[in-house]
Amino acid sequence: MAVNLKGKSFLSLKDFTKEELEQILFQGEKVKIEHYSGKDEQSLKGKSIAVIFEKPSTRTRVSFAVAINELGAFPLILETTNMQINRGETIADTARTLGRYVHGIVARVYSQKTLEELRDYSGIPVINALSDYSHPCQIMGDLLTIKEKKEKLEGIKVVYLGDGNNVANSLLFGGSIFGMHVRVGSPKGYEPIKEVVELSKKFAKNSKGSILITNDPKEAVKDADVVYTDVWASMGQESEHDKRVKLMLPYQINDELLKHADKDNIVMHCLPAHRGEEITDSVIDGSHSIVFDQAENRLHIQKAILSLLI
Ligand code: CP
Ligand code: NVA
Repeated sequence: MAVNLKGKSFLSLKDFTKEELEQILFQGEKVKIEHYSGKDEQSLKGKSIAVIFEKPSTRTRVSFAVAINELGAFPLILETTNMQINRGETIADTARTLGRYVHGIVARVYSQKTLEELRDYSGIPVINALSDYSHPCQIMGDLLTIKEKKEKLEGIKVVYLGDGNNVANSLLFGGSIFGMHVRVGSPKGYEPIKEVVELSKKFAKNSKGSILITNDPKEAVKDADVVYTDVWASMGQESEHDKRVKLMLPYQINDELLKHADKDNIVMHCLPAHRGEEITDSVIDGSHSIVFDQAENRLHIQKAILSLLI
C-alpha cells in the first residue's frame, strides 16, 4: 500500500523508511514518463512555493523552478541577500510569515538547523536543497539514475571518493537504506562524520548492505559498479582549497584509478565539477560518465518529492 507523505518535510534521508523512499523513486519514474509524453500532471495547480538560497546554485535553482512550474505551481526564487534575514530578521519569524503565504519551502542553507527552524515555525513542508550536512534531493535523483542504468539498487557497489561532505553523507544514508555496498575513500581527517557512518552501518545491517570507510582509494574503488565524486572544497570552504587539493590528489577519478573498478562501471558527479581536480576531463567526458543524465534526474525526482509532500 502507498505510504502517505503529505505534510512531511524532506530534511534528511535518515528520517525516511525504505518504503517511503521507494515511493518517491516510483513517483520519479512516473513523472519522468509523463514529462516525455507531454502529459505532466499539474498536481500543485494554484499553489505557490518559496525557493530560498543562502548559497549559489545552478542545477537546484533551475530544476526546482521548472519542476514547480510543470506541476502547475508558482516558484518564488528568493536570495537571502535580498530578504530581511540579511538585516537581522530571525529564521523563525521568516518561517512564520512564509507559512501564511506559500504551500511549501525549498531551501539551500549552511546549517541543517536553519532547515529545522524553517520546518518548526512555518507549519508547511520544508525541502532541503543542500545544507553543510546533507543533500538529499541530489542523492534521490542519483538513486533514480543508478536504478535506470543498473536496473536495481540492492547489492550495487558504490564508491565515493574525496571529501566526506554533505553529498557523501546523503549517499551513505540513501545507499545503506537501499541495501547497497557503500564505500568511501577519503584522506585522514576528511572522512564522513562518525554519527553519519554509525547510523548508516545500522541501516546497512537491516538492508543487507555494507559500509566501508577507508583511506586507500584503490581499496575503495575495487570492482565498483558506481564511482562517485564531488568537489574537494564545498561552498563556504573556499579558503581551504589549496590545502585540500594537495591532500586529495590520490583520490582523483582518472583513467588509471578507474581500471580498478568493474569494467561496466558508471561515473557520477553531482556537479559543478572542478575538472582536473577531483575528476579528469577524460573521465567526466568519457564513455562511463553519466553526469548529465544524473543532473536531469534532479528535475524528475524533485517533482516527485514536491507532489508527494505538498
Ligand atoms: N548538484 C547541485 O546541487 O548543483 P547546484 O549547486 O548547481 O545546484
Ligand atoms: N559538496 C558541494 C555540493 C555542491 C552541489 C557543496 O556543498 O558545495
